[in-house]
Amino acid sequence: VARRHGALLVVDEAHALGVVGAGGRGAAWDAGLAGEPDVVLTVTLSKSLGAQGGAVLGDPAVVEHLVNAARSFIFDTGLAPAAAGAALAALGVLQAEPERPAMARTRAAELAGAARRCGLDASVPAAAVASVRIGDPAAALDAAQRCLDAGVRVGCFRPPSVPDGASRLRLTGRADLTDAEVARAAEVLGRAVVDGAAAAS
Ligand SMILES: Cc1ncc(COP(=O)(O)O)c(C=O)c1O
Repeated sequence: VARRHGALLVVDEAHALGVVGAGGRGAAWDAGLAGEPDVVLTVTLSKSLGAQGGAVLGDPAVVEHLVNAARSFIFDTGLAPAAAGAALAALGVLQAEPERPAMARTRAAELAGAARRCGLDASVPAAAVASVRIGDPAAALDAAQRCLDAGVRVGCFRPPSVPDGASRLRLTGRADLTDAEVARAAEVLGRAVVDGAAAAS
């Protein structure tokens, strides 16, 4: 569609770099679009690479334009060398251990499956984040706190990050999670939601 209209396609690869596609090369690469002149990728260094900051990958003319015209780039302090170095080192790990992305996806799918078996509304992820829909923001916060109290940290997303009524917990599948850790996380999560509902009624 973008090509039909002579438009650039901008793909946010925040959840795809290091996770999706062979060796974690990302969604655009997986779709055969990497390196195309009319495709621009934004990647974050803060998720699978465990650093901070981001990068825009695209045609040199696009990059040149952003460097000279993007206010958010011009009026911002440059990337800290330590963050860039850490991201580069993580990329080296990714290249040396290309099996990790699939392992992270598998662990996320297992977390979602275990959450569903606990009766929770968990979507099966195409990447490394399992999302558990709670709905009410107070209930989501309560469940996240109960998980934390039991030693399991989960992300909690409420409006304005998500639409009203769609608050959710997010669990990230890491390649190095063990079977026991996945089982424990799901058990703690299931108990947190049930105990929270019981306390509220
Ligand atoms: C889809 C998506 N895009 C972009 C970002 C921004 O990443 P960063 O916080 O590294 O700027 C995030 C972070 O949560 C994200 O989930």
